[in-house]
Amino acid sequence: MDQPRPQDSPAFAPLRIGPLTLRNRFIKSATNEGSAKGGVPSRRLVKFHEDIAAGGVAMTTVAYCAVAPDGRTFVDQITLDAASVPHLRALTTAVHRHGAAASAQITHGGCFTFVPPTATRRPLSASSGFNKVGIMSGQWLRQGMQEADLERIAAEFVRGAQLAREAGFDAVEIHMGHGYLLSQFLSPLYNSRRDAYGGSIDRRVRFPVMVLQRVLDAVGKELAVVCKISVTDGHPRGNGPAEGAQIARALEAAGAHLLVLSAGLNIESITTMFGSSFPKENRTRVGNPIVAAAMAIQQFTEPKNVKFHELFQLENSRPARAATRMPLAYLGGVKSLANTEQVLREGFDAVALGRVLIHQADLVNAFADGRTGTSGCTSCNRCVAMMYTPGGTSCVLGEPGDAQLNATPAAS
Ligand SMILES: Cc1cc2nc3c(=O)[nH]c(=O)nc-3n(C[C@H](O)[C@H](O)[C@H](O)COP(=O)(O)O)c2cc1C
Ligand code: SF4
Repeated sequence: MDQPRPQDSPAFAPLRIGPLTLRNRFIKSATNEGSAKGGVPSRRLVKFHEDIAAGGVAMTTVAYCAVAPDGRTFVDQITLDAASVPHLRALTTAVHRHGAAASAQITHGGCFTFVPPTATRRPLSASSGFNKVGIMSGQWLRQGMQEADLERIAAEFVRGAQLAREAGFDAVEIHMGHGYLLSQFLSPLYNSRRDAYGGSIDRRVRFPVMVLQRVLDAVGKELAVVCKISVTDGHPRGNGPAEGAQIARALEAAGAHLLVLSAGLNIESITTMFGSSFPKENRTRVGNPIVAAAMAIQQFTEPKNVKFHELFQLENSRPARAATRMPLAYLGGVKSLANTEQVLREGFDAVALGRVLIHQADLVNAFADGRTGTSGCTSCNRCVAMMYTPGGTSCVLGEPGDAQLNATPAAS
């Protein structure tokens, strides 16, 4: 009897998400590429995503594009505005040449920011109070959002999604995880509001749902609208997988086309996000002193020696699967075609891949033609510190990014 061919695996079957059909079940998850110096998308950013598109994924996600200048976490972060459109169009054109789709992760950092706000006195968040990231940024207090702020920021998300459409993207991914603004509404660690947007999880999800609905109304017929959530905050006083399932259900009811299930918060629980501890070398390699300080602080607050294991978020993601029927992308420690097939057998619809595609851009093609069964990524997390190097994010086991290309605007 003939052996089954890898390309006949269910991992290579198409998947419909809203108005978009993905060619297979592999999505490149957003990984800050370190390729937008001063906010300008570079030619290296285009090359990074073109290589991944050519490598076989169904869709590649451009990491966090701020929907407004005050929504940035770092200065060297894309802001979705008229000036960024031609650069991003160069990127989507390059991705489409290889038959893949392009998604723009759209975000507002809220109080998770190192950029002093201009429109408000203090960085905005769900509630006022002490701002933990202020230890590094110097902005010690956060400001709870008023009704007018909610309206303004929802409109900024809509504008960001419209600009992404103008730039040729096929999807937008609204970032609701990892401790950014919408995640600050979801998490009891940041949300102590007493109005309709705080209290029970049904109320904490209300502002993220409002943003989703407005983005769907504005672009949902042409673009797939994806939400990335943390299924658990990874903190004893934060959301756990049961709340993650309730968030998923609320987003399904609001009409999201796909959820990407991540976990953890940048400040409180970074090891939950990556499934393993960070090496000491990361602190010494980081050029950005604020980030170096953040990493130094994290070593005291984070659990020590968390060892990576494949599919490290599977258990935390199962309740979201059980609670919904909509398309869900599993994320976290997918290393092999066998991992992908296991996740699909469990009822998830797709996988999102981070580090393994930084390590090897053509991993999906290598799975398909049987060249590789398992990624050679060692899950060492050292690519995280590479974000701040002149060549941008790359795997330490391969060639560094081209610094010259990274200094050249994409549309030049
Ligand atoms: C270098 C690097 C940068 C990242 N930047 C982002 C980001 O900008 N937005 C985001 O949602 N997740 C970001 N992540 C997290 C990944 O999307 C993903 O959640 C994480 O790497 C776990 O998935 P994996 O086990 O497939 O790597 C980043 C990860 C890495 C390694
Ligand atoms: S540096 Fe390379 S091997 Fe280490 S986690 Fe990142 S991609 Fe994997």
